[in-house]
Amino acid sequence: MKKIIIINGPNLNLLGKREPEVYGSLDFESFYKALQIEFKEFDLEYFQSNIEGELIDKLQEVGFNYDGIVLNAAAYTHTSVGIGDAVKAISTPVIEVHISNTFSREAFRHQSYISTHAQGVILGFGLKSYNLALNSFK
Ligand code: DQA
Repeated sequence: MKKIIIINGPNLNLLGKREPEVYGSLDFESFYKALQIEFKEFDLEYFQSNIEGELIDKLQEVGFNYDGIVLNAAAYTHTSVGIGDAVKAISTPVIEVHISNTFSREAFRHQSYISTHAQGVILGFGLKSYNLALNSFK
């Protein structure tokens, strides 16, 4: 059974409450329950942190023994050389995901420190971006 982890960055714990016109009205915990049912063939895990170093620690912890990482580093995508370096350093393939289409938003969201080191990037499909990313590990 493939071990896959979803890692969410800052403010994604507020999904459902936060800017619902951009991010939708479903909280991630409810969505994650549906993912667990849809992707029964995976040993699926979920981790969220608002703290940059905790995200780096988690990437290092799982990044040499899991089969896949679905990473939404949220705002750190656009600022964190450290998270980008961690994605480059590990051997587990990382799919970068975003709920919104970051290219249709402010210019500062067009930059990603992760994309160059990711296996693929999926963005703009709402929460479905996660389903598409998980499908890629089948
Ligand atoms: C996001 C896009 C980022 O620009 C933003 O900072 C987020 C969420 C997304 O999933 O659309 O927090 O990663």
